[in-house]
Amino acid sequence: FAPLLLLLAELSCSTQPTYQWKDPVTNKKLTCQQCPPGTFVAQHCTRDRQTVCEPCPDLHYTQYWNYLEKCRYCNVICGEKQVEVQQCNSTHNRVCQCQEGYYSEMEFCIRHSECPPGSGVEKLGTPFENTQCRACPRGFFSSSNSSTKPCQLHRDCEQQGKVTNVQGNQYHDTLCTSCRLGRSNSTQGPALDDDDCEQAVIDFVAYQNIPIRKLKRLQQILERSPRKQALGTRAVIQEKFRAFLTHLKEGHYEVTKELLDALRTARLHSIEEKVRERFLL
Ligand SMILES: *[C@@H]1O[C@H](CO)[C@@H](O)[C@H](O)[C@H]1NC(C)=O
Ligand SMILES: *[C@@H]1O[C@H](CO)[C@@H](O)[C@H](O)[C@H]1NC(C)=O
Ligand SMILES: *[C@@H]1O[C@H](CO)[C@@H](O)[C@H](O)[C@H]1NC(C)=O
Repeated sequence: FAPLLLLLAELSCSTQPTYQWKDPVTNKKLTCQQCPPGTFVAQHCTRDRQTVCEPCPDLHYTQYWNYLEKCRYCNVICGEKQVEVQQCNSTHNRVCQCQEGYYSEMEFCIRHSECPPGSGVEKLGTPFENTQCRACPRGFFSSSNSSTKPCQLHRDCEQQGKVTNVQGNQYHDTLCTSCRLGRSNSTQGPALDDDDCEQAVIDFVAYQNIPIRKLKRLQQILERSPRKQALGTRAVIQEKFRAFLTHLKEGHYEVTKELLDALRTARLHSIEEKVRERFLL
């Protein structure tokens, strides 16, 4: 503490701020020196003596030059969903910030929004700002709710030595297949028990532009014991339908045949035709 007083004495004649104080004994106005940050006025100056400054006690602070008779209490308390980013010390109040994954809005910490399927993260959320999303542009997709993932580029089937079976959109990736499709110059259709081709048929049907009502009907027909129907957007129902068919396939059903029969039963003749033509069935 002694070096501080020394420093004050050295500074006293130049830039140190002052304040007016009425000496209670003489009733005369005095010009006192202020106390630096981290200290407070323990005794005001008198005619014969400079101001006496003392350091702030624990959990108290003064941020600026002052003539306070008491330091301020560190009165900021971090709430739940907040973390302390600056400790209380003699010169600064405590500072809190929203924890990872949250941002502050009107004093509250709110969880960063997720970008819904079809849109991706443009700018990650910060403690002060929510996530910024944007719809996936042409050639990109996002199939999940996410507060961190940007839209992803559609895969390139040719680069993988495969052919495009289903063109990607903003909700799902492009689906490739090694199954030789009907358009290619072959005189022979793909073998029905070929796993790749069966998956290609499933993918192709699942992502046709089938109305939600018809998609549900299809699933009902294919299910031996109909369960509660899936809810959601078409993209979600398509994903579920595709997962359901893939599951059937793994259960060694004759999925392709069942699917073609179901398409007919559901009166989706044009799609049945498309499948037969494309896969030479
Ligand atoms: C108090 O904390 C602030 C911010 O972390 C820092 O700049 C300052 O040097 C600290 N003061 C003391 C006296 O430790
Ligand atoms: C995304 O979140 C919504 C609402 O929480 C939910 O209904 C939907 O099923 C989710 N979609 C995916 C693909 O997880
Ligand atoms: C298809 O392949 C056969 C031989 O397998 C060939 O003679 C014919 O020219 C091909 N057709 C086309 C359109 O490429």
